[in-house]
Amino acid sequence: MQETQTRHGSHYQLQRNGDAFQLQHMPRQLPDLAADQVLIQVGAVSLNYRDLLILRNAAQDTVDGQIPLSDAAGTVIAVGSRVSRWQVGDRVAPNFFAHWHSGKYQAKHYVQGALGGSQTPGVLAEHIVASEDAIVAIPAHLSLQEAATLPCAAVTAWHALFERGQLQAGETVLIQGTGGVALFALQLAVAQGAKVIITSSSDEKLARAKALGAWHTINYHHQANWDEIALTLTDGVGVDHILELGGPDTYARSINALASGGQIHQIGVLTGFGPTPNLWPLQAKNAQINGILVGSVAHFTALNAFLSQHQIIPVIDRQFAYAEAGAAFDYLASAQHFGKVVINVHP
Ligand SMILES: NC(=O)c1ccc[n+]([C@@H]2O[C@H](COP(=O)([O-])OP(=O)(O)OC[C@H]3O[C@@H](n4cnc5c(N)ncnc54)[C@H](OP(=O)(O)O)[C@@H]3O)[C@@H](O)[C@H]2O)c1
Repeated sequence: MQETQTRHGSHYQLQRNGDAFQLQHMPRQLPDLAADQVLIQVGAVSLNYRDLLILRNAAQDTVDGQIPLSDAAGTVIAVGSRVSRWQVGDRVAPNFFAHWHSGKYQAKHYVQGALGGSQTPGVLAEHIVASEDAIVAIPAHLSLQEAATLPCAAVTAWHALFERGQLQAGETVLIQGTGGVALFALQLAVAQGAKVIITSSSDEKLARAKALGAWHTINYHHQANWDEIALTLTDGVGVDHILELGGPDTYARSINALASGGQIHQIGVLTGFGPTPNLWPLQAKNAQINGILVGSVAHFTALNAFLSQHQIIPVIDRQFAYAEAGAAFDYLASAQHFGKVVINVHP
C-alpha cells in the first residue's frame, strides 16, 4: 500500500529555555513518504541516560526544536511505492543509527543518523518515518513496550559482549549498576552461561539482580573496593569482561579488576567525561579496551534472534502515559529505576 493521504499526529520537541531545554508537545503534519520509506505508528518509546544528557545540553550540541529519544517500537501503517521488505501490520523498531546497516562503523554514521541527536529527529512522536533498511522486525514474544527498550541499551550490551567480546559460557563478566544497559548485559550474559558480578548502590536492586541470575552482587556504596572484591571472587584471576559504565570514577578499579587477556567494554559516562586513567596496567595484563557505540542493523537483528532463542523479556521498571513524558524524564534522572523506563504512545 502506498501512502497518499496526509496524516496528522503530534510529537514532543526540545524547546530552549535560557541555558536549559524543556519538552514541548506539538501537533504535527506528517511528510509524504519517499518510495523507500515506511510510516510507523509508535506503540511505545523508552528512555536512556543519553536522553538526559541531551536534555541537559551536556555536549552543548542540543538543537532547539529537535524531537528527542532514540528508542521506539511500533506498527507499520503505510509503505512507500518501492518498499519490498515490509507490509502494513508488521511490528518493527528503528535502529539507533539510521545508516549503519552492517560492517564497520564509520564516523559519518553518527553525524548523519543517530536518532534524537543533533542532526536527526528522534522518536518521541505518535508516528515516525524510516527507511526500509533502517528498521528491524521485533521478536514475536515481546510486546511493543518491551521491544521499545531494545534499540540503544540492548544493542549496546549485545555489541559489547557478543560481537566484540565473543563472550563464552563460563567466562566472568562485571557489570556496573542496574540501569538499562546493565540489566540487558546481565540477562544476555546469564543466557550465554557466563558468571556475572553486578554492582549497585541499592541492596534491594542487588536482590532483584540476583533473581535474574547474577553470580555475585556488590553494593558499591558500602563496598567501594569492588575491584578487590571481584579479584577475591575470581580467586585472584580477575574478570574476563567488564562493562565500563561509570566513567572517570570507575576506570581505575575496572582496570584493577580485569583478568589477564580480559576486555573492558568502554560504554558509559555516568560519572562524567573526565580524564582517562593510567593505561599501563592493561599492557601488563595483555588486555584490551573496546570502545562501543550502540550498533548496526545487523547487530540488532542478531540480538533479536538471541532474545527469541532464549525467550528473554526486558526488565521494564515503570511505564508512563504519552501525556506524562516530562515525568518519565524526571523519573529516569532520579536513578530509582531498575531496568528501563517506558512511555506508552499508542499502547
Ligand atoms: N556507548 C554507547 O553506545 C552507550 C549506549 C547506551 C548507554 N551508554 C552510556 O552507558 C551509561 C548507562 O546508560 P543507561 O541508559 O543504561 O543508564 P541508566 O539506565 O540511567 O542507569 C543508571 C544507573 O547506573 C548506575 N550508576 C550510576 N553511577 C554509578 C557508578 N558510579 N557506578 C556504578 N553504577 C552507577 C545506577 O545504578 P544503581 O541504582 O543500581 O546504583 C543508576 O541507576 C550512560 O553513561 C550512558 O550514556 C552508552
